[in-house]
Amino acid sequence: MSDVNLHQTLYDAMESARPVIGRGNVADYIPALTEVDPHAFGMALATVDGEVYGVGDWEQPFSIQSVSKLFTLALTLSHGPHGDELWKRVGREPSGNRFNSLVQLETEHGIPRNPFINAGAVVVTDRLHTLTGDAAGAVRGFLRTESGNRHLDTDARVAASEALHGHRNAALAHFLASYGNLENPVETVLDHYYAHCSIAASCRDLALAGGFLARHGLRSDGARLLPRSDAKRINAVLLTCGMYDAAGEFAYRVGLPGKSGVGGGILAVIPGRGTLCAWSPALDPAGNSLAAVHALDAFTTMTGWSVF
Ligand code: DON
Repeated sequence: MSDVNLHQTLYDAMESARPVIGRGNVADYIPALTEVDPHAFGMALATVDGEVYGVGDWEQPFSIQSVSKLFTLALTLSHGPHGDELWKRVGREPSGNRFNSLVQLETEHGIPRNPFINAGAVVVTDRLHTLTGDAAGAVRGFLRTESGNRHLDTDARVAASEALHGHRNAALAHFLASYGNLENPVETVLDHYYAHCSIAASCRDLALAGGFLARHGLRSDGARLLPRSDAKRINAVLLTCGMYDAAGEFAYRVGLPGKSGVGGGILAVIPGRGTLCAWSPALDPAGNSLAAVHALDAFTTMTGWSVF
């Protein structure tokens, strides 16, 4: 597809989503997230060779929330065998429950089902913190380098709001600690977890930063972040678990590995071709952006770009 067609196809995908932009509900369990305009919409495509196309509010920063979890996982696994030890402490199966559910943790002995539900992401953050000494800083640094956006940062107001209203995450973290599944103090792990969830980045930034998953493990400068097989594995876990209890519906409609966040962003990977990031803050009942899913569905339907 030519450059002109790619831009036009993004535009057509946005227009196809327009009737549902603003439909659904902005996340309100983190009060600072309610201040965003529910009618915002942006979408960007970064190709494997570094071209970026965008439409709508594609350069406007938003709270990346759980999209950060794919970067914490990748950065942890980039530490080789030390990163792989993670898999003794977190599974790789869909949970079928909400992203912040506590129910499986007790019957499954403190081993979260996968790295993308909140309990699993807390374990990944803990491992990354042990390996780097600064889990949130590692995520910020990676996003800055890959996006070229030196100003990308944690939104301290959102992080404070998450911490103030984070009883459920605190409960999950203490529960994990009671099973011996945290290496660092609960407060430290939660601080870093909130700090990487509260990073503000745009569709452009995220599409560029996710490029290593489309390039089978290679960063934007050609250096290897991960072995090819690890990039494949992350894409597989994204496909099965990245959209929580709506992973099946997303695979059916969009046909790509993807990660959503309650800020309304979704980062999706087209292996070998590029990365798509769509953002619109109003969410469906599973916590995924209604308009972003619609636009990604339209884009893959129009282009035929899918893993199936
Ligand atoms: O811990 C939380 O609840 C948020 N920081 C992240 C949740 C999230 O984005 C789930 N995604 N759909």
